[in-house]
Amino acid sequence: PVVASSEVEQSYIMIKPDGVQRGLVGEIISRFEKKGFLLKGLKLFQCPKDLAQEHYKDLKDRPFFPKLIDYITSGPVICMAWEGEGVVASARKLIGATNPLQAEPGTIRGDLAVQTGRNVVHGSDSPDNGKREIALWFKEGELCQWESVQTPWLL
Ligand code: PPS
Repeated sequence: PVVASSEVEQSYIMIKPDGVQRGLVGEIISRFEKKGFLLKGLKLFQCPKDLAQEHYKDLKDRPFFPKLIDYITSGPVICMAWEGEGVVASARKLIGATNPLQAEPGTIRGDLAVQTGRNVVHGSDSPDNGKREIALWFKEGELCQWESVQTPWLL
């Protein structure tokens, strides 16, 4: 399994197939970069059904589960591992509410989406799930260990 590169909190963030199809990849990545989190892993990936089912296994009894699996496997996704103190909760704020009609303007879903079933991006809901999901979506060697160079005049 993939071992986290540090003890710093990490979140699994995924741009869903609608985000990729609509050309929103740069826009979405940019929000996490500008916020100041560190990108540790990134790939474009066609997700197989069994991986989507494993990722969303806690929802397997929900009525929307089959549609959710069809949606996530309908085209390539962007898989990302983002790192930083408080990244899990902060990423959820940047992403906004599950239902994009209830998401605040300024959030990714609030600005860019309309339907819950096409809500463009996923973010882990706890640090433990961040670890679990990064280990599920990334293989050994796909994460990079690096630190950003801090600009001294901002310290
Ligand atoms: S819960 O259990 O109701 O609190 O679930 P929630 O956190 O709101 O959502 C869990 C994930 O399921 C997705 N979801 C849906 N997908 C398709 N159709 C419908 N109706 C639907 N309802 C919820 C929701 O986007 C969450 O996925 P992620 O990938 O975490 O955004």
